[in-house]
Amino acid sequence: MSVHTQAIKKITTRNLIAMKQRGEKIAMLTAYDYTTARTLDEAGIDVILVGDSAANVMAGYETTVPMTVDEMIVYAASVVRGTNHALVICDMPFGSYTSPSQGVENAVKIMQRTGCDAVKLEGGIEIADTVRHIIEIGIPVMGHLGLTPQSVHQLGGYGLQAKDEYGAQKLMTDALSLEESGCFGIVLEKIPATLSAAVSQRLSIPTIGIGGGMCDGQVLVVDDMLGKNNGFRPKFLRTYADMHQIIIDAVGRYIDDVKKCDFPGESESY
Ligand code: KIV
Repeated sequence: MSVHTQAIKKITTRNLIAMKQRGEKIAMLTAYDYTTARTLDEAGIDVILVGDSAANVMAGYETTVPMTVDEMIVYAASVVRGTNHALVICDMPFGSYTSPSQGVENAVKIMQRTGCDAVKLEGGIEIADTVRHIIEIGIPVMGHLGLTPQSVHQLGGYGLQAKDEYGAQKLMTDALSLEESGCFGIVLEKIPATLSAAVSQRLSIPTIGIGGGMCDGQVLVVDDMLGKNNGFRPKFLRTYADMHQIIIDAVGRYIDDVKKCDFPGESESY
């Protein structure tokens, strides 16, 4: 844990901007449940994102499209109950911010029912008005550009985004528009590292990369970085544990113990 974050009781969006200003990188991970959130918080993570990747990781859907506001509320409220130190951001799911008024209504619902600190929306200039309305009523917003999984059907897959000059210019324009609208940070997913470096340099708010090279911070899906999601090894992922194998081994030993009447023992009985 860094000296800076140790001194701060609860991380705020202002702290994240200050971290960028002093060149301190921001460490962010996803979480969807109370126990994981408690553990990440205890480890000193700066930001927990209750991502709509819960659709894939928790619910087993192919895409994030089926996720609803009510489902996100259950995950986010559980994470908030397990967090003291980290800033908690909740994704607004697909179809929950198709107009400024719908966006405001759902952002208010998420904030009131979960106790989270901020919301995240996918999209650029086309959602700038919605972002502005949500921020105007006092809700901090994080943007998300590049690979925006809620638009997978439009993008035609999960490939690298903003590869050509036009795409790079559009992404820069979108990033500036989100900053101008009041976002406190922007996730840059799966774009060339040279582009994220240029965006990070141009903006005064922090950029958080996932497959986006060196940004002001990084985010990974917690199940992926812990190696729970066996076989999922995209180029951008670094795994820090092999939880899949650890769980297989532990469950195997438990099964053996039960089958051979070794569990429960005397000390585990009343
Ligand atoms: O839903 C999610 O987990 C995300 C991250 C991958 C940035 O949006």
